Amino acid sequence: MSDSNEDNGSLASAEYWEAAANGWALHQEFFRRFTAPVSERLVNMLALEPGQRVLELAAGIGDTGFLAAARILPGGVLVCSDRAESMLSGARARAQELGIDNVEFSVLDAEWIDLPVASVDRVLCRWGYMLMTDIGAALRETRRVLRPDGKLALAAWDSLAHNPWAREPGAVLAERGLTSPSAADGPGPFALGDSERLRTMLADAGFGEIEIDAIDLVESHSDFDSFFDIRLDISRSFHDAVMSQPEAVITEIRAELQDRLAQYTAADGSLAIPGRTLVAVATA
Ligand SMILES: C[S@@+](CC[C@H](N)C(=O)[O-])C[C@H]1O[C@@H](n2cnc3c(N)ncnc32)[C@H](O)[C@@H]1O
Repeated sequence: MSDSNEDNGSLASAEYWEAAANGWALHQEFFRRFTAPVSERLVNMLALEPGQRVLELAAGIGDTGFLAAARILPGGVLVCSDRAESMLSGARARAQELGIDNVEFSVLDAEWIDLPVASVDRVLCRWGYMLMTDIGAALRETRRVLRPDGKLALAAWDSLAHNPWAREPGAVLAERGLTSPSAADGPGPFALGDSERLRTMLADAGFGEIEIDAIDLVESHSDFDSFFDIRLDISRSFHDAVMSQPEAVITEIRAELQDRLAQYTAADGSLAIPGRTLVAVATA
């Protein structure tokens, strides 16, 4: 899943995501499996048609857009973009693996999109906007590049209360003073985790016909070690907070987190941890 620790300064920085790209590429199978319902839903919300130009913002290693690429053939083009070049390297490799050739790759900052006015038919953004320093600017930029009546589909995590996969590791670190509490309205995984705030921000950016829904997900692992190791690999802030500690403290952190996750652990040791994301579609 997305990053869990609310070190917002680093989550909003380009360097953070450049450094996170290896872990995301390493665990892409795991990530793809449990996020598939969200990608599917976003792409369905866009009502895609052959020949359209689709922009994916903050694409990471690119999965959601690749699903869209198949649905705009013949003649359609996907622009797969992210601010982190290392994320796009993972996306290029994945596109090649899938044999997708109606895709262009572009390093783009969603808060200042280097594309002409009214140049795309659809925009996709899964778990990107809430990490941006100025979400309003990114939404206004999105609307600027959309053609009239173009559509945006986005996903943003629901509140932390609905996402124990992030809440519990964050709580263990916070209790030890290893993370700074997040600013309620600052950038971070849960910054848009209030559907009314999301609706208002979309409307303020000029979008109409806004529909917002929630999707429940389950993060499954064969055992606690799998959860812990993947978390270390995909979350740079969790990794740095944990791995900067002496061996004995790391052992304690593991034990505390395992205890907190006991309620999601089956008798055979496997984990099924709930998560919930908001999904929204809006017309430009
Ligand atoms: C949580 S990951 C999500 C990746 C992908 N959309 C997915 O769902 O798997 C967040 C992504 O947002 C990108 N990002 C963060 N701020 C950005 C910005 N201002 N403009 C473009 N991309 C940004 C990061 O580089 C990272 O790839």
